Amino acid sequence: MLVAGNWKMYKGTSETVEFCTALAERLEAIDGVDVAVCPPYTALAAAVRTLAGTEIAVAAQNVHWAEEGAYTGEISAPMLRELGVYGAIVGHSERRQYFGETDETVARRAEAGLDAGLHMIACVGETGPERKGGQTEAVLRRQVSVLRPDDNLVIAYEPVWAIGTGLSATPELAQEAHALIKSLLEVPVLYGGSVKPENAAELLAQPAVDGALVGGASLDVESFVAICEAAARTPR
Ligand code: 13P
Repeated sequence: MLVAGNWKMYKGTSETVEFCTALAERLEAIDGVDVAVCPPYTALAAAVRTLAGTEIAVAAQNVHWAEEGAYTGEISAPMLRELGVYGAIVGHSERRQYFGETDETVARRAEAGLDAGLHMIACVGETGPERKGGQTEAVLRRQVSVLRPDDNLVIAYEPVWAIGTGLSATPELAQEAHALIKSLLEVPVLYGGSVKPENAAELLAQPAVDGALVGGASLDVESFVAICEAAARTPR
């Protein structure tokens, strides 16, 4: 089980230090779950420093496919490695929706991260209209088909209609999508989309759900810890 907190564009350096200090203390006694936090780029170094010597990993929210070059505003895998960062998310639906990310750029980013030795979380998921239009399976097949299996690759199934809406997928629906993804690529699959302490246990109890990618509820130490505890309690 892996529980990763995607902080999106929240928390600067000082809040990150405060959060990570508290998180490390609260998670010290918990076994049976891998935990990662994904702060914004500017707070990565502070997170790595604060969590040094703990089991909590630090990942970035994106990574570029080139090692270096004329790509204003981008960050490369070797730069993340140099900071001591463990991995990165790619293909989040907010990147696809607002920043023109495509299946192809997601695949290139994932590949480069894996080649550099990073652990990658590649996000996939259908929009509300795609689900209503019966397109879910086709969309997931298309998004997953560009990724290649790797020991360091994890997929996050994040139905776009469930992100930040408070309306998570039902456990049955998550199970169905995860089973499809696993039939296409043999990698762990995290669920993301309005995961909260109240619904984490039943989502994580599904056999094809291997953890969670948490947005809003990962910004508060207590709610994030509660989700980590639910994962630790889930028999596997
Ligand atoms: P919420 O948990 O806020 O719905 O966000 C999910 C997400 O986008 C994680 O990457």
